Amino acid sequence: MNHSTLFEGYKAAKHKHSGHQEREVSILKQAFENMEGDLEADLYGKGPSIRTFEQKMAAYLGKESAVFFPSGTMAQQIALRIWSDEKGINKVAYHPLSHLELHEEDAIKELHQLEPVLLAEKNRLIGLEDIVNLEEDISCLLLELPQREIGGQLPSYETLINLSDYCRDYGIRLHLDGARLLEVLPYYEKTAAEICSLFDSVYLSFYKGIGGIAGAILAGSESFTEKSKVWKRRHGGDLISLYPYFLSADYYFEMRKNKMTEYYHHAKELAELYNQCHAVRTMPAEPVTNMFHVHFDMSREELEPLLLEIYEAADLGFTGYLAETADGAPYYEVSIGDAYEQLPKDVLKKAFQMLDEKMKAIDVSRQN
Ligand SMILES: Cc1ncc(COP(=O)(O)O)c(C=O)c1O
Repeated sequence: MNHSTLFEGYKAAKHKHSGHQEREVSILKQAFENMEGDLEADLYGKGPSIRTFEQKMAAYLGKESAVFFPSGTMAQQIALRIWSDEKGINKVAYHPLSHLELHEEDAIKELHQLEPVLLAEKNRLIGLEDIVNLEEDISCLLLELPQREIGGQLPSYETLINLSDYCRDYGIRLHLDGARLLEVLPYYEKTAAEICSLFDSVYLSFYKGIGGIAGAILAGSESFTEKSKVWKRRHGGDLISLYPYFLSADYYFEMRKNKMTEYYHHAKELAELYNQCHAVRTMPAEPVTNMFHVHFDMSREELEPLLLEIYEAADLGFTGYLAETADGAPYYEVSIGDAYEQLPKDVLKKAFQMLDEKMKAIDVSRQN
């Protein structure tokens, strides 16, 4: 069968190398399958079940207190607002490709009158020199680990410690965008609490590597999280009941929290397969988490039909969506989860053999 779009071809392929499973209702059903039906629902952020989960996550992150939020977008805007109010400074610093800058429609400016200070060039990580050379006063520095939009790169642990020490010495609050915090632990060989001890506040997502439905935790000192609850109400984040989110978050957290090393090794293995193909390279060349980007030396118009042919012949989908670099070259994100281990090795081999052959063939046809 011929699929007209990359997305359709991807959806139709039986196997995928990224993610866990299709985002379908069965994810919620599975989480609730063995749940007691008479478990009391939370009410406006209060109740034993939500409190127990928040306390458990606070302990895991090594923080005094934690609050469950329906989204990371909400949680992080609130964290930056609290730190800015505390310091009386409305400037906050982060990477030019952070979620706040790219995907939140200027919310911190429009809702909170905060001014972002963008640190570092788009294609590299924030380093100590960026913050040392800063001429403006900021209330807070937000660091994203890993830096998703550049393939999930990570600074060295030493850089993290230096940034943390510098911020403490100069009274700058340090916030962790740890949407994918668990995914960085195998590379650093640290616990979540060890990493979080370098930060004043921390956000963790439950639907990325953990694979839940949605939701986030925001953790820090008791006084910080108490303030965050007031802002959560102001933002409309106090849904009358959040249990479909946090109970499923807890279920998938327990299921996958110890699988991150496996995902990391699989990402390195898969990146090697990509890098062995002609005119294909991954960023980073060797992944430092379960994710990486795949770049091609060709146009989208050349790449799409080539990928579609592979999806159909090998029954393996790589991606349903191509992003573009500033130069207009196509790339996509790979994020390893449970799907990779379920992938038959002969399917993988066939798909990568085809990719290599087709990339070489395009080069030959260009030369003629
Ligand atoms: C790095 C990062 N930060 C924050 C967010 C926001 O999370 P949410 O979708 O829960 O609002 C995302 C979501 O993709 C993200 O990737």
